[in-house]
Amino acid sequence: MMRKPAAFLLLLPVMAIACRATTGTARRPSAFPAGWRFSSGGKAAFGERFMIASNEKLASDAGNEIIRAGGNAVDAAVAVGFALAVTYPVAGNLGGGGFMVIRMADGRSAAIDYREMAPGAAYRDMYLDKNGNPTNESIVGYRASGVPGSVAGMTEALAKFGSKPLSEVMAPAIRLARDGFVVDSALFRSLSSSQEYLARFGAEPVFYPGGEPIRPGTVFRQPALARTLQLIAERGASGFYSGEVADSLVAGMQRGGGLITKADLANYKVEWRHPIASDYRGYTLLTMPPASSGGITITESLNMLEAAGPPGVWGSTRWAHLLASVYQRAFIDRNAKLGDPAFVNVPIAELTSKEYARKLARTIDPLRSTPTPPNGSQIVDGESTTHYSVVDDKGNAVATTTTLNNGYGSGVYLASVGFFMNDEMDDFAAAPGKPNMFGLVQGEVNAIAPGKRMLSAMSPTIVLDRQGKLFLVVGAAGGPRIITTTSQVILNVIDGGMSLYDAMHAPRLHHQALPDTLLVEANGLSPAVRDSLIAMGHAIRFTGGLANANAVMRVPGGWEGVSEPRSSGTGGTSSR
Ligand code: DON
Repeated sequence: MMRKPAAFLLLLPVMAIACRATTGTARRPSAFPAGWRFSSGGKAAFGERFMIASNEKLASDAGNEIIRAGGNAVDAAVAVGFALAVTYPVAGNLGGGGFMVIRMADGRSAAIDYREMAPGAAYRDMYLDKNGNPTNESIVGYRASGVPGSVAGMTEALAKFGSKPLSEVMAPAIRLARDGFVVDSALFRSLSSSQEYLARFGAEPVFYPGGEPIRPGTVFRQPALARTLQLIAERGASGFYSGEVADSLVAGMQRGGGLITKADLANYKVEWRHPIASDYRGYTLLTMPPASSGGITITESLNMLEAAGPPGVWGSTRWAHLLASVYQRAFIDRNAKLGDPAFVNVPIAELTSKEYARKLARTIDPLRSTPTPPNGSQIVDGESTTHYSVVDDKGNAVATTTTLNNGYGSGVYLASVGFFMNDEMDDFAAAPGKPNMFGLVQGEVNAIAPGKRMLSAMSPTIVLDRQGKLFLVVGAAGGPRIITTTSQVILNVIDGGMSLYDAMHAPRLHHQALPDTLLVEANGLSPAVRDSLIAMGHAIRFTGGLANANAVMRVPGGWEGVSEPRSSGTGGTSSR
């Protein structure tokens, strides 16, 4: 059976808010391979005081408005998050979940896990057919949803680290939903490519009036969503998890055979966690611990890279071989050992230790790739998540990644409350040992159980420089490719000495152990390096854009912001 619905746009509109453009910093010029789609040396957006980089201009503007009104980065991030639910419905959400890493100017840091939880009625084999093969019910339709965490996550983040009332930070999102916003060509294209999928579960009257996607230039109003947002603004998270929104959500689920009950909503809770703090060549990374695999897998990969000695010149055979080899090893651990820490014992200290990395790094043959045991899994492109990075004028920083999993989640649109539901249940190992939608072959540790959080790859990350000062805020969308893309942006600036512009425009590569394939963006390697890697045993597959990142970096006099250049949108505006 086809396990994946129609492919959705991964590369969607993007913007970074900035005070003015600049030529950036005196970092090293980069030489990208001939034929690579982007040139190096371009201009990033620049802000003297603050910077927001997200996938959608109006959502970044919402954060801008809050910072200009005296809010901090957490206030702004919450404003961006709610606004994305209005203007970027492919991934911004109320019906999904996410992860946020916060670093305050006074040195405090925190991580919030607002990942979805499996409903109470979920069970291990719920997505297997009578032959034991996974069906696509973990991806499409009512049974695919975990209990949403986004509203709880954003409201708790605000309560703990924000400085403004919820009603104020939600005001831009409510306005955008109630008064509408002008649809751009990126939203139009996204809706056009998803029409067949979305027509199945209730979204058609809102997004396809008269049977056609809302056209660019049209003012798009979402009164039902505006009302839901208003209820949340007035009542806090209980405006979502109880009362009329919860009633509508549960009624919608019941109509379609979904599992989520009122008790599931009432029992949803966020987990405050300590970020994984690691050292890479003197820089400090603050990343997301389980239930995301992002922080451990990035830390383990970078620790191995450090242990393996000099990484080689960026773009060289040694560089690509080492990256592929460390990712492969880290993903083998990820897929077998990581799951929700409330259910399984995750050896975080061991996996993130330098000693363990040294041991694994010794298994890398400098001249040959090491095979991962074969199976039939495939790496699949597409789908959508969204990451945003925020730095305020006080030196606070927030990295947030949030998702519905697939573009527009399960496809189920709850018209009376105006939002899509996630299909996050597919991030569990529905059939341990068999690939999921992203081709990830995961183990029992990530099997389905009621109340459990499904393992994620989302990797919101904050990097401090060698003096301990805030340096880089980054993360990405793209399933498992989030991990490799986020870490490569970091490596590009630390090891490659690149400007943020170049770090975000450089070709990317990806290895997730299984399938045993080195995925490389088309023309992202010089022919000589490609041929050497093949001779060393790497199975290379060239592909289109890998992942979708948004990043902010400190430069002399302020902050640079770069939104994903592989995206079809563009943007940049003043924040003064
Ligand atoms: O949590 C995860 O790892 C996935 N649900 C993320 C999905 C994703 O990034 C889709 N992307 N564009």
